[in-house]
Amino acid sequence: MINILENEKTFLLSTKETSMIFHVLESGHLVELYYGDRIEDNAFSYIIKDLKHASYLSDTDGIEGFKLEQMPLAYPAYGNPDLRTPAFMFEYDDGSRITDLRFDHYTCSKEKKKIKGLPTTLGPCEVITFVLTDQIRDLQVSLNISIFEQWDVFTQSVEVSNKSASTIKINSITSACLSLLEDNFQIVSLTGAWGRERMIRNSSLTQGRFLIDSKRGATGHGQSPFIALTDQNVTEDHGRIYAMNLVYSGNFKCEVEVDMHQNVRMMCGLNDFDFEWSLATQETFMTPEAVLVYARGYTQMTHRFHDFYRDCLIPRSFVHQERPVLINNWEATYFDFDGEKLRHIASEAANLGIELFVLDDGWYGQRNDIYTSLGDWQPNEKKLGQPLKQFVQEIHQQGMKFGLWFEPEMVSPQSQLFKQHPDWIIRVPFHKPQLARHQYVLDLSREEVQAFIIESISTIIRDHQVDYVKWDMNRNITDSGSFFLDHKHQKELPHRYMLGLYHVLDVLTATFPNVLFEGCAGGGGRFDPGMLKYFPQIWTSDDTDAIERLSIQKGTSLLYPCATMGAHVSAVPNHQMGRITPLKTRGVVAMMGDLGYELDITQLSKKQKDEIKQQIRFYKSIRHLITDGDYYRLENGWMFVSRDQKEALVSHVQILSQPNTVPKRLHLKGLDAASFYQIDNTIISGSALMHIGLALDQAKEDFHAQQWVIRKVENYGD
Ligand code: DGJ
Repeated sequence: MINILENEKTFLLSTKETSMIFHVLESGHLVELYYGDRIEDNAFSYIIKDLKHASYLSDTDGIEGFKLEQMPLAYPAYGNPDLRTPAFMFEYDDGSRITDLRFDHYTCSKEKKKIKGLPTTLGPCEVITFVLTDQIRDLQVSLNISIFEQWDVFTQSVEVSNKSASTIKINSITSACLSLLEDNFQIVSLTGAWGRERMIRNSSLTQGRFLIDSKRGATGHGQSPFIALTDQNVTEDHGRIYAMNLVYSGNFKCEVEVDMHQNVRMMCGLNDFDFEWSLATQETFMTPEAVLVYARGYTQMTHRFHDFYRDCLIPRSFVHQERPVLINNWEATYFDFDGEKLRHIASEAANLGIELFVLDDGWYGQRNDIYTSLGDWQPNEKKLGQPLKQFVQEIHQQGMKFGLWFEPEMVSPQSQLFKQHPDWIIRVPFHKPQLARHQYVLDLSREEVQAFIIESISTIIRDHQVDYVKWDMNRNITDSGSFFLDHKHQKELPHRYMLGLYHVLDVLTATFPNVLFEGCAGGGGRFDPGMLKYFPQIWTSDDTDAIERLSIQKGTSLLYPCATMGAHVSAVPNHQMGRITPLKTRGVVAMMGDLGYELDITQLSKKQKDEIKQQIRFYKSIRHLITDGDYYRLENGWMFVSRDQKEALVSHVQILSQPNTVPKRLHLKGLDAASFYQIDNTIISGSALMHIGLALDQAKEDFHAQQWVIRKVENYGD
């Protein structure tokens, strides 16, 4: 809802439970007066009256006591008396870097447009655009704010229009800037590395700057395009949280600055490191979109992100579709397979109730190791022992769907593609190009490279009736340079790469609307909202150890719906950790997301196969809860509750067993306190389950898992 107050100088934007207030100062500067719990109409300009006390700051516009550096500017510029980090910086042809943005006008609309070339959240919302101009430079900067009332979400993207006669250099540009007039917060971010992606990190907030960024050409394993400020004592259920998540998959930055007067400025957007964009006359530049969520407690924040991404981001045709249980041959065989081995795995898989067979890396060109063939997307029929088409038919005949692995953004030096197009790779002339995993990154800023990828992947999908694609990406961009761009545009490469990739994904997912695309980047090295626009599920991590997965999946679940997480049962000892966990535990943990199996099932005993059969049967009976239910984190556990609170799946994993303790209980959440639920053979009230809790096994076993389904008993006790 948009409320325009105080002579069209104050703008109260509200969702169901949150509000944001913008105000135009007499000087024409746009400030953000408030973001937080919903408030009703009022006169709000009094908020800024107390902000003029700091000394040693410059006055603005010659007005004594008007300190811009103290103002909660909505989109702060460089080159005025505000000397904090600006939200953007432009350079003009005379060498000046000063931009003086003042409010010009606003527009409101009930329709949101797709951001050209970039993944965009779409759904019922209102949009307010604040148009700020620099009269001297003939430049327009528009803040497009979408108000997703029903989801308690705001999004913001910025559009720069160069109306002048000369080119402007964009040196930095963020998507959103949030000003808070207090600093008693801590910072929450998701950081990690390969094999331990998206660990929840708390950092203290002190005077100075805190930065999380990626310079890797992808969001990366080590950092996520997310940052939040929380009250010090925040828990799942209490404490204010201000969160930002960027809908982008390339170089980004998220930062928080606390100034000397305890003002806080939080921003996120494109990384300005090694970035520059030439904006020619009459051109416009659009930033990626930032998603802003204010919530009380982590659970509420998670629900807001999950609901919003399910309804307004993830491909509509898949988001409510239950995901197929898959088998992937990677950890079963790595590159060492032939047609017979695969057929054996496939027939066992079909017997177990598996619905999708995924053929991972090694099926094309001469690929038997990591040294060759990326880019040569022709099936290796010799290795498969038959044409791929025939292999796929056999999979289909067994009642399973067929999935295929690709790494389309890459090329091996030993490949036909590289021989034909050595200039298609990202590299800098005269410097030896750097290899990683023995491969180069293709220059996706080039249209002919985009066209090649679209054509080669489409041909395989179409000719072989592929139902699912695993889209992998196993190295980052290092020596950033393009043969295609002239010297003035070289710093545009990382963003142009992303625009090229998004174009390729736009075309492929539109051409094959029924093909399920799963994202992957050496595990979860590019798990972000930009990718979720195309990939309804993403491989969460190459670390398949059940205990490691608990924290990886928990961190991921903070923002992204659980049905977007690829989660597999693998062999023990685990290939990454060497840890041995019970098959039951591996199943329970993988059932937090899209269940798959990634081990050589032909080597299992009958007992193990029966257990897997049972796991799959059970998963199929409850996976609608994972797809559409509300998710809650519990202590060492988690649960999914159906929207009508009639059904829930509860899971718990004890890490290490302990002797001689009080009986442990698991306090459930999200149930109807006044109703009764059947759990095993007992009937217990919702209030008792939530406040007294479920008794946990006192198991003398490390990594012991338990799982319950609970169902509401209608009219109990009437
Ligand atoms: C990295 C992925 O994360 C793995 O699952 C597997 O697909 C390999 N690449 C194949 O090269």
